[in-house]
Amino acid sequence: MTTITVCTTCRTAEERGDRTLPPSGEAFLAALEAASGDGIAVRGTACLMGCEHGCNVAISAHGKLTYVLGHFSGSAEDASAVSAFAAGHAESGTGQVPFRQWPQGVKGHFVARVPPLD
Ligand code: FES
Repeated sequence: MTTITVCTTCRTAEERGDRTLPPSGEAFLAALEAASGDGIAVRGTACLMGCEHGCNVAISAHGKLTYVLGHFSGSAEDASAVSAFAAGHAESGTGQVPFRQWPQGVKGHFVARVPPLD
């Protein structure tokens, strides 16, 4: 099953400058849970070690490519785009999503693509 792992402690650039603001990662988790349909799992975790380009998510599944994406604000629009990309990942045998299927909202947000373990 494709899983979206979202960093719940991520802060946007603005929030990193004002630590009294709550991290957007918590709201991003809730938005992703609301946006993701059956067949996509969503979980939160503290810090994916990409703090300087939060908000961050990883999209992964056993035997498939893992994608790490960042520079999100944690909005409902971001969640919709990430969820749509995750749906493409779930439909793909390898996890690779053809560029023509990428939601506009994920373009420019890719941080890493990691091959599956043998
Ligand atoms: S706080 Fe989100 S990656 Fe570190």
